[in-house]
Amino acid sequence: MARILITSAIPYINGIKHLGNLVGSQLPADLYARFMRARGHEVLFLCATDEHGTPAELAAAKAGKPVAEFCAEMHQVQAAIAKGFGLSFDHFGRSSSPENRALTQHFAGRLADAGLIEEVSERQVYSNADKRFLPDRYIEGTCPNCGYDKARGDQCENCTKQLDPTDLIDPRSAISGSTDLEVRETKHLYLRQSALRRDLDAWIDSKTDWPVLTTSIAKKWLHDGDGLRDRGITRDLSWGVPVKKGTEPWPGMEGKVFYVWFDAPIEYIAAANEWTNARGAPDAEWERWWRTDKGAEDVRYIQFMGKDNVPFHTLSFPATIMGSGEPWKLVDYIKSFNFLNYDGGQFSTSQGRGIFQDQALEILPADYWRWWLLSHAPENSDAEFTWENFQASVNKDLADVLGNFVSRVTKFARSKFGETVPEGGAFGPAEEALIAELSRRLQTYQDLMEAMEIRKSAAELRAIWVAGNEYLQSAAPWSVYKTDPDAAAAIIRLSLNLVALYAVLSAPFIPDASARMLKAMGTSDDSWPGDDLGQALARLGPGDAFEVPEVLFAKITDEQREDWQERFAGQRG
Ligand code: MF3
Ligand code: ZN
Repeated sequence: MARILITSAIPYINGIKHLGNLVGSQLPADLYARFMRARGHEVLFLCATDEHGTPAELAAAKAGKPVAEFCAEMHQVQAAIAKGFGLSFDHFGRSSSPENRALTQHFAGRLADAGLIEEVSERQVYSNADKRFLPDRYIEGTCPNCGYDKARGDQCENCTKQLDPTDLIDPRSAISGSTDLEVRETKHLYLRQSALRRDLDAWIDSKTDWPVLTTSIAKKWLHDGDGLRDRGITRDLSWGVPVKKGTEPWPGMEGKVFYVWFDAPIEYIAAANEWTNARGAPDAEWERWWRTDKGAEDVRYIQFMGKDNVPFHTLSFPATIMGSGEPWKLVDYIKSFNFLNYDGGQFSTSQGRGIFQDQALEILPADYWRWWLLSHAPENSDAEFTWENFQASVNKDLADVLGNFVSRVTKFARSKFGETVPEGGAFGPAEEALIAELSRRLQTYQDLMEAMEIRKSAAELRAIWVAGNEYLQSAAPWSVYKTDPDAAAAIIRLSLNLVALYAVLSAPFIPDASARMLKAMGTSDDSWPGDDLGQALARLGPGDAFEVPEVLFAKITDEQREDWQERFAGQRG
């Protein structure tokens, strides 16, 4: 039995996310966590909301609420949605927690002691009307290059030219529109990542088993241009982790907070501490997952995230950990994802284009989404959601293949033998062949799941369902029954056991349907099959009671599809 620490990139607090966010981190992480638990491993699966930063402040202001209150509410909303999708976090934390505050300040103190923090004076735009410094992207003006009048202080969206806020013609605050701006001197802390370049480089080089998507992004940042840049880790904001050197004040840094990207990954650690504090459990319990001097040396730590998050996880966060000089656990494997597009374009939170997570759950149960998203996970390239494809997958895979199998088997069994597993008959060559095929496929499925090959795992699981269908079709118990009821009983006994087996194997993908299947089979034995599949296919014995479950998966009609297509084309509302 291994110990596996799993984290998913922590979603921003400032709104409900679309399905692209779900498939890019939380959902595959959940799949893996469920699978590893089912295999008997000890798993700690953590996620949280990423609550600091200007976007959170602005979203709160827009909602007319104090930012702390806004975040507390949105955390509940996101937690409920996560639950709705069956995300099996051991703890869903908050980056604004006291635990994260203490840890973030602790890391900053250690980095300072190690000589890895530098104080830098900067000139930054201050808005008198907003009474705050404006991050580059919150300054708008006319692009000096193309004349576009809504260029942002970091980049012109129209001609893509990288800009400095001072390049803008007629600059104004994107928050209030005020032009009463001035440039002020302000002091910030920089993390000297460049001093850790060699260590990071060697560490990445040692990760020969990482997906190319992950290492190529890391290497690009390490070696492109002037290489790994030192990075400002503080901001002139009020919402965030106050800058402190451990528990001591940091002279000259009063009123400043750490940059959201500094404290967010530290929340992975803090979430474990929140998890024990919530139960009043001792620190040793979370430290054995995170401190290699306290038991974490045999933990395997896996992170899931979208490709845009890779630099922070391959360079910045490891720099924080390495630079601390303390024995914190470094990530062992990073599974990263490309993007999911929506019907010929991008999902857009700002334009309300695509399907938001709450809406998805309003129209269909979680398993439908889980299945489509995971079986189309954007692993090797960007993927695209289309309603046609979604309808086809759900109707074919879930309704025709799996759902139909379960319904045919249970209905036929009930009609001929009543609601108990029939006895009599013996397995012949067809049954032996099926068991042999399933044993092979099960091995492949397990290997693929262990390797986090998500699409391929889904395809293999589907093949396992198909094998049962084909067996049933050719064994044809409905005709065999007429001449040899005992032989039909053996076929049905095996088929009912297949339903139970499918429930167990499918649970990481479609946990709700799996639970319903097991319940209908009258068993709570959800143990993963061992090497002898024949044994696993005797889970249900003669005389055991079962029920015909309600329809597992309803087909999506053309009318529904057209209706949804129209509804989600733009402007959430
Ligand atoms: N909130 C970020 C996003 O949604 C992810 C943060 S991951 C962590 O892209 F590393 F910061 F934790
Ligand atoms: Zn421009």
